[in-house]
Amino acid sequence: MDGNGRWAQRRGYPRAYGHVRGASRVKAIVQEADRLGVKALTLYAFSTENWGRPEPELKVLWKLLKRFLKKEEAALARENVRLRVIGEVERLGKDVREILDPAIERLSKNTGIQLTFAVSYGSRRELAFAMRRIAEEVAAGRLPAEEVTEERIQSYLWTADLGELSDVDLVIRTSGEQRVSNFLLWQAAYAEFVFPEICWPDFEPLHLVSAVEEFGRRDRRFGAVKSSHSIGEAPGLKTSYPALEERESIHATGTEGFNRDLE
Ligand code: FPP
Repeated sequence: MDGNGRWAQRRGYPRAYGHVRGASRVKAIVQEADRLGVKALTLYAFSTENWGRPEPELKVLWKLLKRFLKKEEAALARENVRLRVIGEVERLGKDVREILDPAIERLSKNTGIQLTFAVSYGSRRELAFAMRRIAEEVAAGRLPAEEVTEERIQSYLWTADLGELSDVDLVIRTSGEQRVSNFLLWQAAYAEFVFPEICWPDFEPLHLVSAVEEFGRRDRRFGAVKSSHSIGEAPGLKTSYPALEERESIHATGTEGFNRDLE
């Protein structure tokens, strides 16, 4: 969700207004992702580095997160959206936790699109926490060092409960910046990247469609040498993403209520 501040400043507004407009984009994008058949969507809402922002800006961000939850939880529930957060949530204020935690709990059994807000999130920190816990297990003799495999490491990350969905297929970074910025470094090891020039407050559902279509045109080889057609025959390897029409036909049903409620 990059570019809120620049979007506002270019128009002569305070940065905070960019966040207001940015937050108002979220529901339409979740709605469109669901319609496209995206199974898991993670929005990078607040990084560990963002704690360094001025206090008034932080206040606006927390207010917007709380407002989104209060306003949209019922619609998310009706449409079977499972809400999660990843990050150091214990650093968030009591007022935010009091709204966030029960909302997550109430939506936790849902089986539709897995919507994750990365809040107070940093990928290196996530990996450091995972490594520390693994080291403790090894030191205590509960985990043999040779069992510290890729799968084991994955199971200690904040995305562990997503299972195979924790592997990111597509990262979209708005605002024209072309950096990873500490986002899902492990999980995005084989992700495709798309960098739309527009800032997040201007990011419309049609831009998401365009990014997904671009993704569909990529030849994902996962380090192999042939086209995705041939590596698809190898067990355990993902093939290319289904065509947009195919995904639409699979997921076109069941989202009407959500669409209506989010209007
Ligand atoms: C990036 O823009 C955006 C953020 C740091 C905050 C986004 C979070 C919200 C809008 C709060 C509500 C969240 C949800 C999920 C409902 P930037 O300020 O870094 O933009 P810049 O790079 O142009 O300065």
